[in-house]
Amino acid sequence: MGFRKDFIWGAATAAYQIEGAAFEDGKGLSVWDTYSNTPGKVFGNHTGNVADDHYHRFREDVALMAKLGIRNYRFSLSWPRILPEGTGEVNPKGIAFYNALIDELVAHGIRPFVTLFHWDYPQALENRGAWLNPESPKWFEAYAEVVAKAFGDRVKDFIPFNEPQCFLGLGYQIGRMAPGVQRVDAEVVPMVHNALKAHGLAVQALRRLVPDCRVGYAPCGGPGIPATDSLEDIEAARKAYFNVPEQAWVFSVPVWSDPVLLGTYPQELLDRLGKYLPRGWEDDLEHIIHQKLDFYGQNIYNGDVYRAAENPQGWEKVEYPAGHPKTAYNWPVTPEALYWGPRFLYERYKTPIIITENGLSCHDAVSLDGAVHDPNREDFLHRYLLAYRRAAEDGVDVRGYFQWSFMDNFEWGNGYGERFGIVYVDYATQKRTPKDSAYWYKTVMESNGENL
Ligand code: NOJ
Repeated sequence: MGFRKDFIWGAATAAYQIEGAAFEDGKGLSVWDTYSNTPGKVFGNHTGNVADDHYHRFREDVALMAKLGIRNYRFSLSWPRILPEGTGEVNPKGIAFYNALIDELVAHGIRPFVTLFHWDYPQALENRGAWLNPESPKWFEAYAEVVAKAFGDRVKDFIPFNEPQCFLGLGYQIGRMAPGVQRVDAEVVPMVHNALKAHGLAVQALRRLVPDCRVGYAPCGGPGIPATDSLEDIEAARKAYFNVPEQAWVFSVPVWSDPVLLGTYPQELLDRLGKYLPRGWEDDLEHIIHQKLDFYGQNIYNGDVYRAAENPQGWEKVEYPAGHPKTAYNWPVTPEALYWGPRFLYERYKTPIIITENGLSCHDAVSLDGAVHDPNREDFLHRYLLAYRRAAEDGVDVRGYFQWSFMDNFEWGNGYGERFGIVYVDYATQKRTPKDSAYWYKTVMESNGENL
């Protein structure tokens, strides 16, 4: 027993984080171009203008992937590279770039998993109100149609959204990521609704135009981990995981996943904020938003521990003890998140699970011997994968795992200050060096996780 025979092993990236060529070949601006080129927004004033220069080096990168045994690659398309104004005229050079990338992947036996939107929203549409504009779902639908028609002959696995919690919550509520604005709930609620409608329309468009495709999702949210194996603590962790917090409600799992997979908004959201939903929302839920998915993708990096408590909510958070292991980004190391997350999600949404992102940043450097030794990454991935395998063995329908990230890249507000890759990138020379973990991960993929 272990992972199923056809388990999907892979690695992931996103357009803005690796491509560069931000102002080349007719690409339109995204909110991240604007934001990162505004002084003071990103650590060290780093930008994605060049990033990993993947736009010019994709052949080298795909060859390296193949050499490192990667058979499945999740990457995103830059919406404004394809549609410079976000809607309307298509940029032929943008299409040509992705055609060449996809062809290169297929030629190397690598299956493409395409994310349509990984945060680099077209600036032109931002200027028209972004997700607040009632037309915004249609814009995304039209973009999905262009993608389906251009690439659907070779791409069969699609993920419309990456972490909607973050592009809306961090982008428009907390204002800590592009476009960096702070809106009130009366605006954020309709934005969420429009984004969910956009998702639903995109799923329908992809299925209409690529009938043999598979469509998933890649939201986020740190799983609840029970403090002990008692039924009470398990229930406490489950409740906490699917709770809709009063302040950080945009970041919760059920706000984004219940509508799509269950066809309902969580009752807490309706009670508190339902008054801000646009007219006709029930109809939208039923006819557009509620869409069966082929896989429930989830990005998981860490979780929080909970135990049962005698308070109205029935749970309380347990703080990690002093000295608890953490990553270079100061994120706690919590392998159990890859057991309880998939298990709780599968119980609630009854949809096969793929981990669409998991990994960590380490203090990586090229050693005197020319290699990049990253035992912490290997140990981290090993522990998380053991937990994930245990979920499989306990009957959770887990279908795949994408390590984040194939190579070091632009970590949003933290610029190049965090290294998540299994391939090291020297940004001055653009030299790629596979880290030790890349060679180790290759053996894991080859053995289908049997060597863990
Ligand atoms: C989530 C995001 O999808 C990805 O873009 C980011 O780099 C990683 N997590 C790490 O923070």
